[in-house]
Amino acid sequence: MYFKKMILISLCLANVAMAQTKLYTEQFRPQFHFSPATNWCNDPNGLVYNNGTYHLFYQHNPFGNVWGHMTWAHATSKDLIHWKHQPIAIPEENGVMIFSGTCVVDKNNTSGFGKDGTIPMVAVYTGHIENVNQSQCIAYSLDDGITWTKYANNPVLDIHKKDFRDPKIFWHAQKKYWVMALVLSVEHMVQFYSSPNLKDWKHLSNFGPVGDTSGVWECPDLTQVPVEGIPGKKKWLLQTSQNASMQYFVGEFDGVSFKNENKTTAILRPDYGPDYYAAIAYNQLPATVLPTAIGWVNNWNYANDIPTTPWKSAMSLPRNLSVKKINNNWILMQKPVPAVNALRKQLITLSTEVVAANKLLPVKSTQFEMELSIEPASTSICGIKLAKAGDDYFEIGYDAAKQLFYVDRSKTGNISFNENFKKLTRFEKSIALKNKKLQLHIYFDNSIVEIFVNDGEAVFTAQIFPEENNSAIELFSTGGKSQFSGINFREMKSAW
Ligand code: FRU
Repeated sequence: MYFKKMILISLCLANVAMAQTKLYTEQFRPQFHFSPATNWCNDPNGLVYNNGTYHLFYQHNPFGNVWGHMTWAHATSKDLIHWKHQPIAIPEENGVMIFSGTCVVDKNNTSGFGKDGTIPMVAVYTGHIENVNQSQCIAYSLDDGITWTKYANNPVLDIHKKDFRDPKIFWHAQKKYWVMALVLSVEHMVQFYSSPNLKDWKHLSNFGPVGDTSGVWECPDLTQVPVEGIPGKKKWLLQTSQNASMQYFVGEFDGVSFKNENKTTAILRPDYGPDYYAAIAYNQLPATVLPTAIGWVNNWNYANDIPTTPWKSAMSLPRNLSVKKINNNWILMQKPVPAVNALRKQLITLSTEVVAANKLLPVKSTQFEMELSIEPASTSICGIKLAKAGDDYFEIGYDAAKQLFYVDRSKTGNISFNENFKKLTRFEKSIALKNKKLQLHIYFDNSIVEIFVNDGEAVFTAQIFPEENNSAIELFSTGGKSQFSGINFREMKSAW
């Protein structure tokens, strides 16, 4: 009896504690990135634009703050930055989890799900039966994505494999059919299928294994993107995720097969940091909107253990995509969507600094956007430290002698909540200076740092969990004097 009473009292206290912290004000809570109000999330799913609304479905556990019971949750937005939570879209049922996939607006009612002129939205997802099978299933909505009905004759594509998942669907205008790209994960292969009606699928071709085959392939995304500087010219971008990082290929897709035009000797990644995964691009955007992708900000090596509650994981800033030829490779160029600028507070322009050791900036924040150029001394290691207090900081740096850009979170707050996180602290990539300078566009959102280098030629996304109130910002240069200029700093408002 006594024990029962004690349990009851502690449960009540826990509830009071929960209620006391208002949602979206918790420590580490991103304020201008999407995160679920409560509980676990992973991959973005079903990104589609319909009638002025951007839909974001995502992998979600409605019952807990770790991976499990995979279900499609749903949020909508008018601008990709302010989100409204919607009811659960497609729940796990009868032992079948709802794994990743995409969504289309079936304008011509090819599926026949539309009734009395209502245009159906159709979601194509992987039905996952743990340790048994993965097959492709569909569901439809006749009320703009709010309520969903699973198709009675699911699955629509089943080759009796345990690792066959994550369909990306889009309409191929020339061929006049739907295309599905999905992966044979263990074989490191993307398969392409076609369908006239989203129900009957025919195999077209395979791509891979190629490039990074270090982990199982997941979440393929194929989308057409503009070539920077050549109006009207487009290329096809194929992205895949493998265990904890992503890679991309650029080339042509003729409606049947994908031909990569990049060398595969160096692996090209949409993000060189630790926390960008399963990114997919929006379907059916208006012609005036650039192709836009969103990725999951987390990493399977430690995802379940990150120290956030009552939610876990967030989405990246939506990124506009284009490509550009650099040194004979098509390079993915990414920029945050302009809508994020609506959250900017007042611009603070800081003076040019020549730094020989350390220079604390006269601003402090853990929620800001900052642009700057660095002209590193040829022998220096230089850069910027965020979330700084004493020896605790996040370091963004450039090693000029090695022409190496890096991020380092080994000295940032809590790194010991997971053994893998403790090891995965430094991420680097060789990046050449442009006119002797490095251009950085940094977003820091409490526990997420996203850095767009040289106009988005490379991006780094990293989660950090700094001590509360560590918010100083410091420039540094060792081994020579480096110049920091064009420093534009803006705190960011909350989107929540
Ligand atoms: C990628 C992934 C997908 C799968 C989903 C399950 O992060 O493993 O392959 O569909 O997550 O939640």
